[in-house]
Amino acid sequence: MRNKVLKILEERLKRSRFHHTLRVTDMAMSIASACGESVEKAEIAGLFHDLAKNMSNDELIHYMETHGIAVDEIVRRNLFLAHGMVAADMAKREHLVEDKEIIEAIAYHTIGRESLSKLAKIIYIADYVEPERSFNGVEKIRSLALSGELDKALLMSIESQMTFLLTGHHEIHPNGLAMRNELIRQLHSHHHHK
Ligand SMILES: [Fe+2]
Ligand SMILES: [Fe+2]
Repeated sequence: MRNKVLKILEERLKRSRFHHTLRVTDMAMSIASACGESVEKAEIAGLFHDLAKNMSNDELIHYMETHGIAVDEIVRRNLFLAHGMVAADMAKREHLVEDKEIIEAIAYHTIGRESLSKLAKIIYIADYVEPERSFNGVEKIRSLALSGELDKALLMSIESQMTFLLTGHHEIHPNGLAMRNELIRQLHSHHHHK
């Protein structure tokens, strides 16, 4: 399976993106193993998560119009956010991936969402903290994820990303905020306030 997939990825991705994909896949498999999720599903989701990353904005728009993928205003103005949705649709249509949970994990790795599956959380985090990423706090998130503290790692990832977006005066997608608020509620209901 893996060799065939690698060939597809090498054809569609730039070299640096291809290597990023392999690092995300390894990281996703390690996190999955640490928190009792299917390592095989994590591998497939990791391999395909950036399938649409090399498409231009025009290609993304054309693909979404052709295949009826509806996006909101924020995604329309920040088209890089669309590559997850497009990759998931491509993987499904081309029968590269059949598993619904894997397709969902690919679709939401860019904008997040409330009530994400464990697998989708793993891909989101793995993409954010793969070994070549370096930002303040990356080691902390990595070690939380690799010790199976998925929700804490996800909360720190989204908050770190939002801090970056706030600092740069970029738009923040409401999905990310909803995901972050849900994590706050869940973590507070499971633990005592400090
Ligand atoms: Fe991506
Ligand atoms: Fe990625």
